[in-house]
Amino acid sequence: VASVSDTRWVPREIDLTRPSPARVYDYLLDGACNFAADRELVEQMLVTMPWVRDAARLNRSFLRRGVLFAAERGVTQFLDLGSGIPTVGAPHEVAAKVAPEDVRVLYVDNEPVAVAHTRMVLADVPGVAVLESDLCDVDRVLGAARSLLDLDRPVAVLLAAALHFVPDELDPAGVVRRYVAALAPGSVVVISHATLDPEVPGDIAGAVEMSRRMSTAGTVRSREEVTALVDGLDVVKPGVVFTSQWRPDQATAPGFVHGSSANLAVVAVKR
Ligand SMILES: C[S@@+](CC[C@H](N)C(=O)[O-])C[C@H]1O[C@@H](n2cnc3c(N)ncnc32)[C@H](O)[C@@H]1O
Repeated sequence: VASVSDTRWVPREIDLTRPSPARVYDYLLDGACNFAADRELVEQMLVTMPWVRDAARLNRSFLRRGVLFAAERGVTQFLDLGSGIPTVGAPHEVAAKVAPEDVRVLYVDNEPVAVAHTRMVLADVPGVAVLESDLCDVDRVLGAARSLLDLDRPVAVLLAAALHFVPDELDPAGVVRRYVAALAPGSVVVISHATLDPEVPGDIAGAVEMSRRMSTAGTVRSREEVTALVDGLDVVKPGVVFTSQWRPDQATAPGFVHGSSANLAVVAVKR
């Protein structure tokens, strides 16, 4: 992993004084690919939402369980949309535990620093490719996906903590529908999404306000809106729940408030 002090790998046109979702999330996960502006924003978020670091970890561990769910059903092709900066538990590593020979992953992100870092870290990993693109540019992403993945076989579309950076005007549910329409039956959709569900403690409105300082602001959505993202698909048990409640493989600490996961999780399958 590149060190933070050496920024020669950072694309030149990037404004490192503006926090970005990818680097903020990387700092929350104790990663090494973030800058002063990202760290300052996180420190401010921690004042009103002391659970935000745990929420990031819980999201990452939900993503891992979602990938395992798909891999255990025999799905070995992954389209990771809004993939961020590679950190522990990257989907190609998780899926390889189930299918060491076959895994293919296209990582897609629109943040140049995340993409540059992903290219650097994954350069020699077979079966893995990286695309810099807006995930809403469905035709472009699917065009690139066709050169790595066989779309006649099931694919798992991973949208972990990504769709809350897609505003309503860009119709996130429509974006999901367009991906699903292009995929084979048996394909899996794994979504986590920041929520304004009343069970989330703390100042969510304030958090949204803070997120406006990032290169992409966030849009938190209700349980109904998150449920609508997988309309027409078979939602697997336990349905739309907080990330910490989706088939947990570890006990949470006594007194843990699931709402402090702050992200709803859902996994659904195309019939
Ligand atoms: C919070 S991170 C989540 C990373 C990873 N999916 C995870 O859950 O561990 C959100 C990522 O989505 C990316 N992103 C936001 N909007 C996007 C868009 N319209 N197209 C592609 N990527 C996007 C950000 O750059 C960031 O890397």
